[in-house]
Amino acid sequence: MAMIFQQVATDRGCQSYLIGCSETRSAVIVDPESSLTDRYLALLNQEGLRLHYLIDTHTHADHFSASQTLSSQLDVPVIMHRASPAPFVAFHVDDGEMVRVGNLKLEIMHTPGHTGDSISILAEDRILTGDTLLIGGTGRTDLPGGNPGELYLSLFNKLLKLDPALTVYPAHIYSNRSCTTLGEELTKNPRLQVHEESAFIEMMNSLNLNMPDHLTEALRTNLTGGKTVAGLIAEAADKVPFMSLAVLANRLQNKDCDLLVLDVREADAFRQAHIPGAINIPRGQLELRVNTELRDPTQRILIYCQLGKISTLAAATLKQLGFDRAIALDGGFSAWQEQNYPVSQPG
Ligand SMILES: [Fe+2]
Repeated sequence: MAMIFQQVATDRGCQSYLIGCSETRSAVIVDPESSLTDRYLALLNQEGLRLHYLIDTHTHADHFSASQTLSSQLDVPVIMHRASPAPFVAFHVDDGEMVRVGNLKLEIMHTPGHTGDSISILAEDRILTGDTLLIGGTGRTDLPGGNPGELYLSLFNKLLKLDPALTVYPAHIYSNRSCTTLGEELTKNPRLQVHEESAFIEMMNSLNLNMPDHLTEALRTNLTGGKTVAGLIAEAADKVPFMSLAVLANRLQNKDCDLLVLDVREADAFRQAHIPGAINIPRGQLELRVNTELRDPTQRILIYCQLGKISTLAAATLKQLGFDRAIALDGGFSAWQEQNYPVSQPG
């Protein structure tokens, strides 16, 4: 039976996999990443597939899972291991269980060690190993839920006992390869040459790796289904139009009286320097002061902040409050100053 298989990677090497049944056109996405959601939707369309499940191989500490977002957008359940704490998981699986995707059978293996909830997924001639087994490496065991003794057992008593011809697709790749085989890893992976359990544990405990970027945010969002800060700003950006720095400078020069320029930085920053003619309502006071200071909901309001991110949130808030003509500046006051546009410096 033909399996549709697409590997989709981020530029930081996070791998996700779209697996489809060519007969029924059913599909699953494994380890979806939040910056790739449009890619997955496009691929599903292009391949003529309907998504049935989303699977995370473990609670990721270093990438932002798109499972919850895609789950609510497409109304499909998220599958994770029984030990996964995330509240949005609809369907918990355990070692030896199977997920059917059309006529494809995905076998679940519990392979803890990198995290307690790590699974590997056997799909015909290939195995998705999450962060348990990587190309030339293994998942680290020093992050929350990690356990080198469990990783040893998952590798040596489970994965490495499978057919060496299996193709291995991990959740992270740190080279320009796309996959490996179990046989190749058995002979060439340096960490798998340490066969003694105690020596393996000692090796894993002495790796002394840097903490991944965004660890706190990734764990927070992946465990709770909460939003990332970038996701929150991107959602706001979908709801507001933007004006470029050059167009604003031009409007100010031409004394465009229709445009109210609103600075949402803190009062101290505003006092030091601001865009000429701007008024100041700090972002934290916007809802408190909107009724007294922005009386005309039909007014065209251009909002800016220091870096162009908080202003996007503020513009989306004003839109929600009925200011239909709220616009965010594309860039912030820092960029405005860098480009030598005019500034008022009252002090
Ligand atoms: Fe991981």
